[in-house]
Amino acid sequence: MPTSRSFYIETYGCQMNMADTEIVLSIMHGAGFIRTETLSSADIVLINTCAVRDNAEQRIVGRLGDFNHYKKTNPNVIVGVLGCMAERVRKELMELGNFIDLVIGPDEYRKLPALIEAADSGEKGIAVKLSRIEKYDDIIPFRTDVLSAWVSIMRGCDKFCAYCVVPFTRGRERSRSLVSIVSEVENLSHRGFKEATLLGQNVNSYSDGTFNFADLLVKVADVDKKMRIRFMTSHPQNMSDKLIDTIASRDNICNYIHLPVQSGSDRILELMNRTYTRNQYLNLIGRIKKIIPNISLTTDVISGFPTETEDDHKKTIDLLHEVEFDGAYTFKYSPRENTKAWQMGDDVPEDVKNRRLSEIIDLQRNISLRRNKTMIGDTVEVLVEGLSKKSVDEFCGRTNTNKMVVFPKNGDAIGDYIGIHIERVNSATLFGTKTGHSLPQFVILTA
Ligand code: 5AD
Ligand code: SF4
Repeated sequence: MPTSRSFYIETYGCQMNMADTEIVLSIMHGAGFIRTETLSSADIVLINTCAVRDNAEQRIVGRLGDFNHYKKTNPNVIVGVLGCMAERVRKELMELGNFIDLVIGPDEYRKLPALIEAADSGEKGIAVKLSRIEKYDDIIPFRTDVLSAWVSIMRGCDKFCAYCVVPFTRGRERSRSLVSIVSEVENLSHRGFKEATLLGQNVNSYSDGTFNFADLLVKVADVDKKMRIRFMTSHPQNMSDKLIDTIASRDNICNYIHLPVQSGSDRILELMNRTYTRNQYLNLIGRIKKIIPNISLTTDVISGFPTETEDDHKKTIDLLHEVEFDGAYTFKYSPRENTKAWQMGDDVPEDVKNRRLSEIIDLQRNISLRRNKTMIGDTVEVLVEGLSKKSVDEFCGRTNTNKMVVFPKNGDAIGDYIGIHIERVNSATLFGTKTGHSLPQFVILTA
């Protein structure tokens, strides 16, 4: 096989998929393929897909149409569909058209080079077995960022929330060993990375047989005190007091928790199989706020789950008022075949779903704005990440609490920690200027 063939890859979906693409890059480079950033120069076209909601899948089907078009003028091109959609709708993908050569699920990426070789001789390749052991532990992800790294600490999910396709597309939960994760973070530190985000569908149920997630966090945080440690996603069921204490115990473990609530109604939470009640969730939030007063909290909410009434919806609205999250990711319920909720039908009309969703979004935007306004006048420590989206004269970066900050460029470099005096805000971003003070690392100053 010629070694200079180029491949193009696009990634859809969650951070786990971004991290998986870095594994795929590593496997492809190891086999001698060279990445290209433009579709029009690719010999191999890969798409790493998401299946969590129908609109994600529809977008991907649309994009596959472009790839089909590209292949019509370049018949030797190999097109491969990777990830969750490959796992979920393998047959339909193969039937979508003759232009798809490879369908490869999340646990089968090692086979990619061999399947490409087979595809060269006209064989369609399908590899969608889920594994109980595959963790890609020995593969060093190929990272394009030099500041911030995704570190996948586990794969799969065992929670089986009634609406969710992930346990079917990513298989059973399995954790990497603490030793291998710590050594990956040591390597990142040596290479000058300033931030590592530990990733898993359910990081707080991490267990390698000996160590739990709190143990892992301590070990990872102690690798390099100047490296910020983040993690996502957490499940309320596994958020132990020990874990909350651990987050509070290290300055470089960021004061930010993404804790999906999904609904504020006990009846819906039960139908969703979320394994906690509204009160248990609120008590947990209370404990977190007490132990880590400067905590920033975000959540996920699903609107229009089967049988959701106006009263259920109102309970979600009330919960958002009560918790005052810093942000929320909001979704319209999307029925997924084979899940438990699939059998419950999809009885909330589209216009009702839309209206409830926009009520949630509007409310949360106001709450986020109010929370951000309380920061006007503060000086916060920001890790400089790069140019802001809007201007080459501005940098952007994040606070420890994961808030985006935009400020004028002022002789600083990407990767510096600097103090920014916050002057104005909107619901998503803080704006400010650099302070004269030299800022002790990881201390939040209040002006
Ligand atoms: N419909 C709508 N939202 C969903 N999510 C997961 N499955 C579905 C679905 N079928 C949302 C949940 C989860 C986030 C990643 O996606 O809120 O936390
Ligand atoms: Fe899906 Fe629930 Fe697992 Fe999250 S915890 S990936 S929502 S099944």
